[in-house]
Amino acid sequence: MTAINHQEHFDHKIDNDITIEPRDWMPDDYRKTLIRQISQHAHSEVVGMLPEGNWITRAPSLRRKAVLLAKVQDEAGHGLYLYSAAETLGITRDQMYEQLHSGKAKYSSIFNYPTITWADMGAIGWLVDGAAIMNQVPLCRTSYGPYARAMVRVCKEESFHQRQGFEIMMQLCKGTAAQKKMAQDALNRWWWPALMMFGPTDDASPHTARSMRWRIKRFTNDELRQKMVDVTVEQAKVLGLTMPDPDLKWNEARGHYDFGAINWEEFNNVIKGNGPCNKERLNTRRKAWQEGQWVRDAALAYARKQASADGTPA
Ligand SMILES: [Fe+2]
Ligand SMILES: [Fe+2]
Repeated sequence: MTAINHQEHFDHKIDNDITIEPRDWMPDDYRKTLIRQISQHAHSEVVGMLPEGNWITRAPSLRRKAVLLAKVQDEAGHGLYLYSAAETLGITRDQMYEQLHSGKAKYSSIFNYPTITWADMGAIGWLVDGAAIMNQVPLCRTSYGPYARAMVRVCKEESFHQRQGFEIMMQLCKGTAAQKKMAQDALNRWWWPALMMFGPTDDASPHTARSMRWRIKRFTNDELRQKMVDVTVEQAKVLGLTMPDPDLKWNEARGHYDFGAINWEEFNNVIKGNGPCNKERLNTRRKAWQEGQWVRDAALAYARKQASADGTPA
């Protein structure tokens, strides 16, 4: 097939919602965009374990500890599915780790904020996993097959994460005045960074149109952000909490909530590496990689031994 036929064949598949699979021809930019997006997503899952990992030893009960542990382990699993999906595009896991550890790769800016109180476990599940669901449910229909299939399972688990977070918030809001205050404080601190998770506004997001055309993206950043606001405001009412946004107002004509301006300077600053925990997060990941060297060495040595016992060349 000529290059033009390849392109036509690819376009036909995209237009008809037929998934693109690893061995299919694809434009270079499609491949590059997906490698970047999927590896960033994988890094976010793995770095995302750290803020909550901070509270596993201090969970208020055995039940809470078991739930939080399961949730954090799920995120490790999400990282693995996603690294595997990215590998099908021709990048190796070592290359992706190298990009993360050298600071070259990005991950979701939200994980550079500290977890100060137990209520942060509630707010993260409710808002951060809640925003992740908004982003990821449409990705179950994304055009690249391995990514779409990984997302189906990820989304089921994210829905458990969101519920466990909301349940923590519910419990705190039904508790003492001090507990309710703790929940409100967590909402105040996590709300705006959670809205930033959807990325820059549509007019400041140059690749959106192309990603929509390739059906990598199904909704724009602003569409998803609006959905998040509309859903979460109602949930905050159930909790009896106040949204930290004086400009928040139902807009009858639009059929949506209007909300205040996002501090994009803060967002850009955190992306650049100057958030409250950027250095700590990266150092923790680097240390984990170094300390895991003996495990990798042992696994390789074992694999070699097995292979030579079979008589197959290592
Ligand atoms: Fe996840
Ligand atoms: Fe999650």
